[in-house]
Amino acid sequence: MADLRQKRVVLGITGGIAAYKAAELVRLLVMDGVDVQIVMTQAACGFITPATLQALSGKPVFTDMWDARVPDNMAHIELSRGSDLIAVAPATADFLAKLANGLADDLLSTLCIARECPLLVAPAMNRQMWDNKATQRNVAQLERDGVVILGPASGDQACGETGLGRMLEAQQIYDEINSHFAPKLLAGRHVLITAGPTFEPIDTVRGITNRSSGKMGYALARAALDAGAKVTLVSGPTSLDAPAAARVERVESASDMFDVVKKHAKAADIFIGVAAVADYRVEKTSTHKIKKTDKNMTLKLVPNPDILAYVAGLPRPPFCVGFAAESRQLHENADAKRRRKKVPLMVANLAQDAIGADDNEVTLLDDNGIHKLARAPKTVVARQLVAYIAKLFQGRKKKKA
Ligand code: C5P
Repeated sequence: MADLRQKRVVLGITGGIAAYKAAELVRLLVMDGVDVQIVMTQAACGFITPATLQALSGKPVFTDMWDARVPDNMAHIELSRGSDLIAVAPATADFLAKLANGLADDLLSTLCIARECPLLVAPAMNRQMWDNKATQRNVAQLERDGVVILGPASGDQACGETGLGRMLEAQQIYDEINSHFAPKLLAGRHVLITAGPTFEPIDTVRGITNRSSGKMGYALARAALDAGAKVTLVSGPTSLDAPAAARVERVESASDMFDVVKKHAKAADIFIGVAAVADYRVEKTSTHKIKKTDKNMTLKLVPNPDILAYVAGLPRPPFCVGFAAESRQLHENADAKRRRKKVPLMVANLAQDAIGADDNEVTLLDDNGIHKLARAPKTVVARQLVAYIAKLFQGRKKKKA
């Protein structure tokens, strides 16, 4: 996540049913301290009222070229001049066509042409309109012109059909805007991340797992993408949505995770092992559901491979970061792990605090000593961590050179 305070964003809303999602997007941006200026087309006003958006953005909404509030009557120049970004959500097929052809017959299309800042558009339309050759041609032209196209998503549509054309959710558009502003500290780097728990099968229906939610690993994937990295996320079973731009490999057991990590590790610049990998697996899994008896049962467990130690031990290892969840003697235990697994950076947190929670309080242990980060949402901790990792990674490169 970037620091969005003081950023000036023009949010354009065009006439589609997804306009209702723009209200939530405004709320998310305003909560982050963004100065949001809403510009609506006439058609948009048929779907959501300017009054709603004025209340949410805390500023008058512009709908007209000839707005008497702008002293020189040049709203299109005034509004685009001071902006850091223009986002249009929803962007109808008609609006995309106008943009692709440089038409400027209302305030929003005119200020898009008069802009000096980046333009992001989130298309929203019926699936046939999206598939239409003209729309596809327009989208391709806009991409060539440097416009960033967000989505669309696939799913239920207001017309009752199902398919590609739904606007992304407000949170996803917010994430993309955020990503746009984040410093590109890891541009061109490949970051490999393990996340979530592993599931070690006992038989066809049962298994051993842990309470890891995957939130920290997924937040790091998002933060690394925002920092310009290419991200491969190897995830154990979780209910989370992965960032669309990450390459996601879903696995169940530690052995599966190990195989997938081995495949990607050599090409990675940075490896972050966030997964709560089960230390043991059942030696012999049953291919049938084990029947209940009234006798005691013993499961023989054998150790799993240590994925982090393996990657850190490669002849030319990526820069490795481990996570240590401890229930006591946090720093001593985490530092012992750091030395044993030979990783330059270990992130320590209290297991009872971190697992499954939305917030986290972490301590970083590396050759420079111990560095504590304040308790914060995992998304914020992830951003700080990525900045710290990028700094150590750069330092390591300099030392090698
Ligand atoms: O479980 P442990 O406390 O040793 O985990 C510390 C770090 O090692 C974490 O980053 C975890 O992802 C990694 N790990 C691993 N493979 C294991 C056990 C742990 O990669 N089998």
